[in-house]
Amino acid sequence: PSFIEQSIAIIMEDVVKKATDVTEKVCEWRSPEQLKELLDLELTDGGESESKILQHCRDAIRYSIKTTHPRFFNQLYAGMEPYSMVASFITEALKPSLYTYEVAPVFTLIEDAVLRKMMEMIGWEEGGDGIFNAGGSMSNMYAVNLARYHHYPHIKELGLSAAPRLVIFTSRECHYSISKAAALLGVGTKNVYVVGKMISSALEEQIKTAKSEGAVPFMVNATAGTTVLGAFDPIEEIADICEKYNLWLHVDACWGGAALMSQKHKHLLKGIHRANSVAWNPHKMLMACLQCSAFLVRDKTHLLQRCHSAQASYLFQQDKFYDVSYDTGDKSVQCSRKPDAFKFWLMWKALGTRELEQRVDRALAMARYLAQEVEKREGFRLLMDPEYANVCFWYIPPSLRNLSDGPEFWKKLHTVAPVIKERMMKKGSMMVGYQPHGDKANFFRMIIISPQVSKQDMDFVLDEIHNLGKDL
Ligand SMILES: *Cc1c(COP(=O)(O)O)cnc(C)c1O
Ligand SMILES: *[C@@H]1O[C@H](CO)[C@@H](O)[C@H](O)[C@H]1NC(C)=O
Ligand SMILES: *[C@@H]1O[C@H](CO)[C@@H](O)[C@H](O)[C@H]1NC(C)=O
Repeated sequence: PSFIEQSIAIIMEDVVKKATDVTEKVCEWRSPEQLKELLDLELTDGGESESKILQHCRDAIRYSIKTTHPRFFNQLYAGMEPYSMVASFITEALKPSLYTYEVAPVFTLIEDAVLRKMMEMIGWEEGGDGIFNAGGSMSNMYAVNLARYHHYPHIKELGLSAAPRLVIFTSRECHYSISKAAALLGVGTKNVYVVGKMISSALEEQIKTAKSEGAVPFMVNATAGTTVLGAFDPIEEIADICEKYNLWLHVDACWGGAALMSQKHKHLLKGIHRANSVAWNPHKMLMACLQCSAFLVRDKTHLLQRCHSAQASYLFQQDKFYDVSYDTGDKSVQCSRKPDAFKFWLMWKALGTRELEQRVDRALAMARYLAQEVEKREGFRLLMDPEYANVCFWYIPPSLRNLSDGPEFWKKLHTVAPVIKERMMKKGSMMVGYQPHGDKANFFRMIIISPQVSKQDMDFVLDEIHNLGKDL
C-alpha cells in the first residue's frame, strides 16, 4: 500500500475509532519537556524513512487531545461529525482556494448556497451578503471594519486621520475578540465602552456619555450566547436603540446562533433579523469541522466588497470569459481562503435541517438534566440556571461544606477547581474547563454539544469530579 493508504488506515484506527471510544482516554498528558523528548522534533537535512514518518503520525495522534471523545467538554466545540470530516478530507486533498470561480467553481456556489440558507434562518427575507472566514474573532473584526466603513467610507483611503474618535459599545460578558479588533483596527481598546449588562437604558446612558465627550458612537455589539455563561443579550431592545441613534448593530452569535435551527429555542435570538451583521460559527454547536465560521451582512449594496476590495488585476481580471461576480475573493481581507462552507453543506445535506434542530434541542435538554443533577447533589452548587448549553457550577469538597459563606470560604473554594482539573488531565478520564468570572471564584463550565453524549456521561462527570476532589 502507498504511504497515503497506510496513513489513512492509521487515521481510521487511531483517530476515528479510538478517539471516539468512551473506554479510551481523552488525553495522554505530558509536560512540554516530556513531550519534546518523546516527539523527536528536529528537522534534518536528510529525509526519514516512511516507516518512521508513519510512527510520527501515530505519535502525533497519541499525544493529541481527543476533542471528538464523548467526555471532552472543555471547549465550545466537541464531537465527531462524519460528514463534515469527510468534507474536510476532500477539500484538503483537492487544495482549492476560494477567491476566484476559476479555481473553485463548486465551492464558490456551495458557499453562496450555505450563506443564503443561514440568512434565511436569521430572517433576512431579502437576503444579504456574507463570507466564511478563519474564525469568529475574524468575523467580529469584519464587523467593526464594516460598521466603520459604513459610517466613514473615506477611512479606507485616508486612514484614521479621516475619522473622529469612534466608540463601540459591548456587553461586559463579551468575548475578548472585541478588544483585539479595537486594537488592531486603530479604534483603541479604551474606546470600547462596556455596558454592564446590555440593558437598553444602560446602553442609552453610555451613548449619551460618549457623545457628550465629543466621541462618535458607531456600533453596538450584542452577544447571543456568551462564551462563559451562555447568556443572551435582548436583541430586540438593543435594535430599537441602534435605530434611534443610527448605530450599526452586530450580533455575535458565534456560539448561540445554532439556536436559530430550533423552533423551541430560537426565541433566544428574537430580533436578530434587525441586525446589520451577524457572526455565526457552525463549527461550535452544529459540529462542523474546524474552522467553519460565517460572517453575514444584511446590506445588499456590496458593502463587504467595497470595504475590502483591492482589485488585484492579476487575480480579479474584469475581462474574464465568465460572470466575474462569482469571483468572491475580493470581499475578504485574506487572499487564499479555505472552502469551509463545504464542511457545513455536506453534513446539512446528510442530516437535513430537522436533524440539526433535534441535535440542538437534545443538547439543551441534556444541559438542563445536568443542571438538575447539580442542584440535587450534595456538594454541588449551580452558578445560574442555564439559558443555553453552558452549565456553570462549583464543587464544594466535604472539608469546606461546614464553612459559612464568607470570604474565607470563597478563597478556599477558588483553589479547588484547578486541582481537580490537573487530576482529570493526568488521569485522562475527561476534560471540563474552569475559570473565574467577574468576582466569582473558579467554577466549572460544562459544555454540552454532541449527540454522542448521554445522561450516563453527565452522571459520570459529577461522580468523577467528586472522586477527584473529595479529599481536598
Ligand atoms: C467562540 C467565540 C468567538 C470566537 O470564535 P473563534 O472562531 O474561536 O475565533 C467569538 N465570540 C463568541 C461569543 C464566541 O463564543
Ligand atoms: C462582541 O461581543 C462578543 C461576545 O460577547 C465578542 O465575542 C466579540 O468580540 C464582540 N465583537 C465585536 C465586533 O464587538
Ligand atoms: C459539619 O457539621 C456537622 C453538623 O454540624 C458535623 O456532624 C460534621 O462532622 C461536620 N463536618 C465537618 C467536615 O466538619
